[in-house]
Parts: sequence; structure tokens; C-alpha cells
Amino acid sequence: MKLAERMERIGVESAFDVLVRARGLEATGQSVVHLEIGEPDFPTPPNIVEAAKRALDEGWTHYGPTQGLPELREAIASYISRTRQIAVGPEHVCVVPGGKPILFFPMLALLEPGDEVIYPDPGFPIYQSMIRFLGAKPVPIPLIEQRGFSFDLNVLEDSLSPKTKMLILNSPQNPTGGLIPEEDIRAIAKMALDRDLIVLSDEIYSRIYYTAEPPFSIATVPGMKEKTIILDGFSKTYAMTGWRIGYGVMPEYLVDAVNKLMVNSNSCTASFTQRAAISALVDPQTHVENMVQEFRRRRDAFCKALNQIPGFRCTIPGGAFYAFANVRGTGMGSKELADLLLEEAGVACLNGAAFGEYGEGYIRFSYANSIQNLMEAARRIQEISERWHVCAAL
Ligand SMILES: Cc1ncc(COP(=O)(O)O)c(C=O)c1O
Repeated sequence: MKLAERMERIGVESAFDVLVRARGLEATGQSVVHLEIGEPDFPTPPNIVEAAKRALDEGWTHYGPTQGLPELREAIASYISRTRQIAVGPEHVCVVPGGKPILFFPMLALLEPGDEVIYPDPGFPIYQSMIRFLGAKPVPIPLIEQRGFSFDLNVLEDSLSPKTKMLILNSPQNPTGGLIPEEDIRAIAKMALDRDLIVLSDEIYSRIYYTAEPPFSIATVPGMKEKTIILDGFSKTYAMTGWRIGYGVMPEYLVDAVNKLMVNSNSCTASFTQRAAISALVDPQTHVENMVQEFRRRRDAFCKALNQIPGFRCTIPGGAFYAFANVRGTGMGSKELADLLLEEAGVACLNGAAFGEYGEGYIRFSYANSIQNLMEAARRIQEISERWHVCAAL
């Protein structure tokens, strides 16, 4: 049976492919340091696990409301109102299985063939995949390493057209760890306010940052709440990637559309995980603080080690748990280098070009791994780097 034509336009995430290749190598006895996958290596905090167990015992094992349990939506609305300094209520919140459905559903509800969508490049591969899948036109905007991997605002402004329906922002960013400075966000909001477009603000890494101030949300700018979909969730902040729970905060007309897509696809998000998510939000946040502190320690140590390797240059990331190293100095393409690092050095990492054409010349390393493993990875890369310098000298 022939698949629908649209399936030719849908993409994948290379992190999962590299994981499979790395596991294949391990099965042959090779040791691999895993720096490819984007998830905290910490366990889910015990208070959340306990809350889920309690919920199972109490019988939270049935269907619930499509939009999410009212108590959880209340907790999310109050959390978002506090952290983004805006007034939102539970009627603006959709609870869904992970952060990803807040890309999938609103894009499905809004985009038509010919609409243009602006998004960061390098960026989370699902943005481009979904834009193309829906027949809309991808308009990638390069991120500038010298600007801490933020946009050139002139390029962004020039890319806006009457057909621009959506602008995707992601700060802190995957794959670069970059943050968009508040003044840039305010300038972007100014461009968006007098245009008929919606901003999809992917804030899944909102709690993982190393700057003095938290990342600034475009929804905070007066007038922007009505034009913004905030994507956030529990996967990264609370090390809950396998629980599949996330949420979106958006204008009510979009809530209705997302509810319809949810009822057609999932009915609802699992009830006991939603009960656990309430505990995640309202209980003390010590586990998040400790995790971020540990990520900071690893970031500092790993980036320092990478910067000592000939051919590597790594900007210190302001958030998330990714180091996005410029590897042009090695003289190798980033796919060739990522393959070499996996196969010859046993370091699993991602080719920057898997995040878009402007990612060529970079490698993404996830530092969600122990200091010991990170130092071992740096040692292995250093060792193999001697080989490419010998080749270059020939
Ligand atoms: C930028 C970005 N947005 C969204 C997601 C999706 O998160 P979730 O696992 O909650 O679906 C990820 C996960 O890697 C991400 O990196």
C-alpha cells in the first residue's frame, strides 16, 4: 500500500537514530559515552514518584477531561502567571502527553499550504518536519554564534512577509543552549504586535538556565499574551521524559482547537501522571535547583575541556544542557566528524547539520551525563584529534 504523499515530507529526530547505532556498537563490546540524547540523567524526584503511586492506589486510572484535570490546570495557570508575570487562567491551559503535542496540535490547527513559518536554524528538528508535513513554507533564520546563538534582528525583520503566519522562538535553545536576550525579545514582540501572526514560544527549558535572570518570555510583553502559545512541560525540568506530560498556554480559540485534536487522537493525558504533575509544581523545588547546579558544574568543566581540543571552539551556553561546539577548525564536515567520534572514539554526539543547514560545522553534545563520563569523552576526542592533525599536516 502506498503511503500518503504527505509522509514524504515528515522528518525524524537524529538523536534516536544515533542512540540505536550507539547501542549496536555497545552490543559488539565497544564502550560508548552517551552524549547524544536530550534528557536529564537524573531520576524523577521521589516526591513526584510517590504522588504517582498514591494516585494509582487512589484509583486515578480512568479517563479524565480532554483538556486536563482542573486542579492541574489551576496549578499550571498559577505557575505561568507567576513566572511569566501575566494573568492566565485554567481556561487557557491544555494538558497533553509531552511538550511535542503543543507543536503538533496548534500547527495542525493553524497552518495551511502556502503559509510561512519562521523558525530558528539550527533548531529542534520537529519544527521543520511539522511545517513541511502541513505543506506550509519553512523560513529558517540563522542563529549567530557571536550573538550567543540568538538571531540577527534585521534578518528576522526582512524575513517577515504578509504570508508569515507563525514565528517559532525557543529560549533556552536546543541545540545551542543559547538564550534570546530580553531586549531582542522585546524587539521581536514589536515586530509581531502589528502583524497578523502567532508566536509559538517553546519554553521547555525555561527552568534550566545559568544566567542571573530567568529566560524572558515573549508572552510577558504587554499585548503578546493574546498572540502567543507557550509550550512548556515536565520532561526536562523534573526529569520526566518518559512520563509523557506537558502543556500549552494559549488564547481560548486555540484551546478549543487543541481539545478537538486531543479528543480525536488521545482522549486525554494519563490521569495518575497528571496527579503527580501537581506535586511537581507545588512541592518544594529543591531537586530542580540541585539538578541545575550540577548541570552548571558539568557545563563549565566540559566546555573548558572542549575548548582545549585543537579545532574545537565552544561558546559557553546560557541554558539547557547542550554544548554546541564549532568544529570547523578540524577541517572535517560535521557529519563526518560525528560519525568518526562515535565509531572510532566511542563518543555518541549529534551532527549539527541534523538541526538545519546552519548547523553545519557544529556538533551537539548533551552534558546530561556524569562529570566522569564527560571528562572521559573529552579525553577520547582529544586523543583522536591528534590523528586529524597528522592528516592535515600531510
Ligand atoms: C526544544 C524542544 N521542544 C520540545 C521538546 C519536546 O519535549 P517532550 O519530551 O516533553 O515532548 C524537546 C525535547 O527534546 C525540545 O528539545
